[in-house]
Amino acid sequence: MATELTRIEKLSALEILDSRGRPTIKCFCTLEGGISASASVPSGASTGGSEAVELRDGNPNRFRGLGCLNAVSNLQQVLAPALEGESFSSQAALDHRLQELDGTSDKSNLGANTLLAVSLAFARATACSRKISLHQYFSEILEVEPGMPRMTVNLFSGGKHAGEQVSIQDVLIVPNAESIKDSLASVYEVYQSAADGMLERFGMRALTADEGGLAPSFENSIQVLEEACSAIERAGLKPGQEMHLAVDVASSHFYKESKYELDGESLTGQEMIQTLNEWASRFPLVSIEDGLHEEAWEFWPELTQALDNLCLTLGDDFLCTNPGRIRKAVETSACNALLLKLNQVGTLSEGAEACRLAREAGWKVVVSARSGETEDDWLADLAFGWAADYIKVGSITQSERLAKYNRLLEIESSYD
Ligand code: PGA
Ligand code: ZN
Repeated sequence: MATELTRIEKLSALEILDSRGRPTIKCFCTLEGGISASASVPSGASTGGSEAVELRDGNPNRFRGLGCLNAVSNLQQVLAPALEGESFSSQAALDHRLQELDGTSDKSNLGANTLLAVSLAFARATACSRKISLHQYFSEILEVEPGMPRMTVNLFSGGKHAGEQVSIQDVLIVPNAESIKDSLASVYEVYQSAADGMLERFGMRALTADEGGLAPSFENSIQVLEEACSAIERAGLKPGQEMHLAVDVASSHFYKESKYELDGESLTGQEMIQTLNEWASRFPLVSIEDGLHEEAWEFWPELTQALDNLCLTLGDDFLCTNPGRIRKAVETSACNALLLKLNQVGTLSEGAEACRLAREAGWKVVVSARSGETEDDWLADLAFGWAADYIKVGSITQSERLAKYNRLLEIESSYD
């Protein structure tokens, strides 16, 4: 960890567009000595209720209210004057100052998007000035040895990332290869065989969803899981050996009036647990994400028990990378894996705290992108630097996703 002080000379911001064509924010940070770096932040669509607040302009006449000009202005008119000329002994010191300047627990004053952009641009500029890689900088913050995560790649999409043609949000493939290089090659084969299968089955090439996953009109979730297994087999691989599956149920988004509206059926919490147990028994799943509603605290421990020895019980909307929620989930044994998204919490240091809490509890960690991404690749450095067990970036099409995979390839090759 750097003991020397890092002085911010200049901060500025730009409204740019994400992979859905919606505005987001990019921050430029110059340090004393002239080293300068930038970082941009992603944005979710199937968001959890406890996420830190992403500031949007709300002007219906511009980007349908989604503009980020207020975030830019907060960065340039509030944060820049307060931070320029200030020196920081660590990332934690800067992030603490950012939280202080915002003054709210949910970042609703200046915006989590605004704060995270500064936090990451500062991280990258500091790593540059210290002549270390960004992943090394990240691993020093958390004081862990870096390690390459296993990939989880979106194959089929439904829910809010597609046309809600099936209730569940993602079925992902999880290669069991030695390297990222080999993982990508086998993922390509499965993706292509799935796309060919869709052409045969539906008579047209399937349209893709927000993260590049194939989004044909499946009738139900079981069909999606079955088709994923068939695609793996047609690619010449063995499901459960060379390739596993994962599922993001994102069930908060089809929970209506205390029932899970899953594939045309209305299920109680108990029935939902039973259904997920059946999926995990029948398919080679490594994890089930958000299998239950994000506030169904009373059912989560039971789900975790029901999936024990079958697959991980992974919390995304349930935990929102929020240290308070993670602590409560640890105390109640409500899940055993954290989906970590920095913009759910708003600064790098709070993300590090979330990761630390999960690790102390013996949980697995999945570092994840958002459905609205930019071509920035810091996520790859984060997943490697924090030695995440898995990385979740979306599909292997679309450059905002490939920026991260290609960065993982670069990191991997630097260790050859
Ligand atoms: P989001 O989806 O980025 O739209 O929230 C990703 C996920 O649910 O994992
Ligand atoms: Zn999710």
